[in-house]
Amino acid sequence: MAGKHTKRGFIIREAREEDLAEMVGFLAKLALHVSGAPPHELKESERKRLLRTLHSSLDDPNKLLLVAESKNSALVGMGYVYIWRSQGIWEQSEAAEFKSGVIDDIWVEPDFRGLGILKALLRDLVNFAEEHHASELILEYSASNKEAKAAWTKLGFKPTGVRAAAFTSVVKQALAESQG
Ligand SMILES: CC(C)(COP(=O)(O)OP(=O)(O)OC[C@H]1O[C@@H](n2cnc3c(N)ncnc32)[C@H](O)[C@@H]1OP(=O)(O)O)[C@@H](O)C(=O)NCCC(=O)NCCS
Repeated sequence: MAGKHTKRGFIIREAREEDLAEMVGFLAKLALHVSGAPPHELKESERKRLLRTLHSSLDDPNKLLLVAESKNSALVGMGYVYIWRSQGIWEQSEAAEFKSGVIDDIWVEPDFRGLGILKALLRDLVNFAEEHHASELILEYSASNKEAKAAWTKLGFKPTGVRAAAFTSVVKQALAESQG
């Protein structure tokens, strides 16, 4: 599993406590990337909350937090999967537990994109999901996130739903116009 050096100049390994501060920086960049906002600094309370969340994932057997490390030991990416369990809800079905691997918090530093780091992260995330008998992988990306859409599509993911948003005023107007 993780930790082997590759010819491409990076390794994938499990995250450690000393990585967490830098990983919070990646999460902040990811949030800005998804929202399209200019650079901002995280509130101290949010930085601490993210640190606590990442920290609690380190020892959780249902979660795997990975980093990509360049040859000179700099962190250049991260990825995360957790095993989500759901019980059958129908009387008629067997009492089976269904498991999915939820993938989240994927970030590769801009200078290191296109080198296969996402694929290398995903290989280990998929192995973890398989070891936990998760037969399905789930993730979300923003419709405006073109590189995410391109990469996930190439890796076999297909949209299964739509998250829609509207200004309250727009919905109010639409309802007013459709009043019979
Ligand atoms: C999306 C992201 C994680 C891809 O990481 P990466 O390490 O550059 O991806 P890889 O090099 O492993 O490429 C994986 C596949 O996706 C394709 N791909 C990656 N980026 C692409 C892009 N911008 N346009 C088209 N295809 C792309 C590659 O062609 C590759 O397939 P191939 O090797 O068969 O050609 C990276 O661009 C990123 O961190 N983006 C910002 C954060 C983000 O959007 N995270 C995902 C949120 S869900």
